[in-house]
Amino acid sequence: MKQQLEAIKLRALQALDAAETPAALDELRVKLLGKKGELTAVLKMMGKLSPEERPVMGQLANAVRADIEAKLEERKTAINAAVLEAKLAAESIDVTIPGDAVELGHQHPMNMVLQEIKEIFVGLGYQVVDGPEVELASYNFTRLNIEEGHPSRDRSDTFYFTDDDAVLLRTQTSPMQIRYMEEHKPPLCMLAPGRVFRKDEADATHSPMFHQIEGLVVDEHITMGDLKGALVAIMKKIYGEDSQMRFRPHHFPFTEPSCEMDMQCHKCHGTGEQGGKVCSTCHGEGWIELLGAGMVHPDVLANCGIDPEKYSGFAFGMGLERMAMGRLKINDLRLIFDNDMRFLNQF
Ligand code: DAH
Repeated sequence: MKQQLEAIKLRALQALDAAETPAALDELRVKLLGKKGELTAVLKMMGKLSPEERPVMGQLANAVRADIEAKLEERKTAINAAVLEAKLAAESIDVTIPGDAVELGHQHPMNMVLQEIKEIFVGLGYQVVDGPEVELASYNFTRLNIEEGHPSRDRSDTFYFTDDDAVLLRTQTSPMQIRYMEEHKPPLCMLAPGRVFRKDEADATHSPMFHQIEGLVVDEHITMGDLKGALVAIMKKIYGEDSQMRFRPHHFPFTEPSCEMDMQCHKCHGTGEQGGKVCSTCHGEGWIELLGAGMVHPDVLANCGIDPEKYSGFAFGMGLERMAMGRLKINDLRLIFDNDMRFLNQF
């Protein structure tokens, strides 16, 4: 029996040394120490021993059991440590590997041009202001001398919110003239960039949403000469000192007299043709329209509580997208709104 116990111990210790996983260890524990285990089977035979032999063998059996248990514990600790080690190795992070660089964005090309334009105007003393996109018809039309029934108030052109057509998405930035003159008295000099909305189908030159920049200057003795001088100086800053401008008579309900300002086409230099073909930049016109402008109508000044006998002013409105397209040589308006990174990354 003594040899049997020694043999069990030897095999058990060898088997435990060979076990590599917690599951294998557990299996061995049941096999070696469990009720159906080899050691238990030997202990069951103790009854057949003589009274002298029994305590000696009992002691030996307990010692074997204790050795196996100690070995089990030792292997368990070792295997758990190995498992943890492997896990740590697999999940380790090398903090010295260079990280993925975060791609830095930049301003949208249209905002770059807006920023440039704003800086020029701020340098000339203009105050830049913001106004509501949801506007009252009285500001967008009536107080700008655009009476009810005027074709530009038509429902086919304007997004209205109410059945009585009193609230709308502003169709121009000109209502900011009224809002500014309500709050400020002359001398005043303001610039109001912002989004405007019209029921237009989107094509290369139209969009139902676009941006305008409104300007207004009111003081004593302001004349058409001030308008021309200011706008030519500003446009030369934006498009280059050698660019040529012209003014054409036009009509706007809120200015009198009114005009439009054009810039000579930089591609064909006013000839309207390029290499025997119609110039693709100005479509043969020789000139590119930049903005609408005029002397603020006396009624508009009076509508805002400013005495037209004492004060006069000029106003202008230009399309920001058109400015950006000219400045950055973009040929399709939709590119500005599509937000295709391949386009935006070029600026
Ligand atoms: N609001 C006009 C438009 O949308 C542009 C404009 C023309 C604005 C003349 C002005 C101006 O301030 O004086 O077509």
